[in-house]
Amino acid sequence: HMERPESELIRQSWRVVSRSPLEHGTVLFARLFALEPSLLPLFGSSPEFLDHIRKVMLVIDAAVTNVEDLSSLEEYLTSLGRKHRAVGVRLSSFSTVGESLLYMLEKSLGPDFTPATRTAWSRLYGAVVQAMSRGWDGE
Ligand code: HEM
Repeated sequence: HMERPESELIRQSWRVVSRSPLEHGTVLFARLFALEPSLLPLFGSSPEFLDHIRKVMLVIDAAVTNVEDLSSLEEYLTSLGRKHRAVGVRLSSFSTVGESLLYMLEKSLGPDFTPATRTAWSRLYGAVVQAMSRGWDGE
């Protein structure tokens, strides 16, 4: 579980980003495809791609809302992991997503993206991936 000061850093920094999810999500995915272009063909049409950006930002938003106790999202995240496995995403690609998330936050927040804020986000994202990774169990 996250300590109070850490969750406060997460909430504060997300406030700015969540005002325009599609814009920030696009920065995240542009970075992701630059780092890992092989992921691009996993998406079909461009509306589907934009919808997916919205979906990703909603899941992160839910994680921020539940930052102090992610257990309520465990089952959902495990099944979300299973769905990604089924569409051919490798678990290892979620590290690149994490890097891209930190990149987007840094671009949006500038100097407000302090080392403490970065650490808090790494921990939150790590917990999300940990839960999603159960969808690959038995592989
Ligand atoms: C490695 C990067 C990723 C790839 C290549 C990927 C790909 C996909 C694909 C192909 C689908 C099915 C089509 C669709 O619904 O658009 C999907 C669904 C979805 N993805 Fe991702 N995804 C990635 C990362 C993420 C992340 C990080 C999250 C959230 C934390 C996320 C959240 C979702 C959600 C909520 C759905 C809909 C699942 C449902 O139908 O119930 N994805 N993803």
